[in-house]
Amino acid sequence: MIDLHTHILPGIDDGAATLAESRAIAERAVVDGITAVAATPHVRDDYPTTPEEMESRVATLREDFAQKGIPLEVHFGGELDLGALGGLTPDDLRRFSLAQTGRYVLVEFPYRGWPLGLERIAFELRAAGLTCLLAHPERNPEVKAAPERLEPLVRSGTLVQVTAASLDGRLGRATQQAAKRLFELRLAHVLASDAHSPALREMGLADAVATLDDHGLATFLTEDAPAAILEGAELDPPPPATGPRRKRFGLF
Ligand SMILES: [Fe+2]
Repeated sequence: MIDLHTHILPGIDDGAATLAESRAIAERAVVDGITAVAATPHVRDDYPTTPEEMESRVATLREDFAQKGIPLEVHFGGELDLGALGGLTPDDLRRFSLAQTGRYVLVEFPYRGWPLGLERIAFELRAAGLTCLLAHPERNPEVKAAPERLEPLVRSGTLVQVTAASLDGRLGRATQQAAKRLFELRLAHVLASDAHSPALREMGLADAVATLDDHGLATFLTEDAPAAILEGAELDPPPPATGPRRKRFGLF
């Protein structure tokens, strides 16, 4: 699997504090079945990460993981706050784009209120050749109340990332329901950990996938779609629902 949303870079935001913590997150990811991650540090007022800071830490992790024999690819990225986008130059945006293909940017969906400027921002980014991947909208109360509200955005090309912990209920029932509804409506494209620490509760991509009970969708969300994003390629639409798996040994 590929995890496109992690705070694995050391000492840059509220994620890993030290290189040892970065290694621990990486080791946990490998055990979970993840082969590649995007390092997506916050880029916002309280964590004003620069492209240089992000790039140098990615280089540090690549070197360190190679030395320690940790089989995890680390790609460039950033989690861009809506308010911070205006202060970024076209070159900054390219450098913060996922795997620096200049095609997809991870944009943090606010935790409160409906972001009124989002449609315009997504449109402007699209005009610059960039597609928004919205980070965890299922945690926003407006989306929890009406997940279908994301449909016009998705129809016009915006992508949606759901956080694994949302799906398996660790962030509350309303968040879980919203996450499930987004999958049912085929309004989600990527499942990611948003890992901030090596704690097990933040890393359960495999567990979250198991709750989907839909192999085709799980493969799309954790392998095919994130792989296309890392390549800067066009995304296929999510596969249609296959329904619940048949019980092979059921008596009835
Ligand atoms: Fe995040």
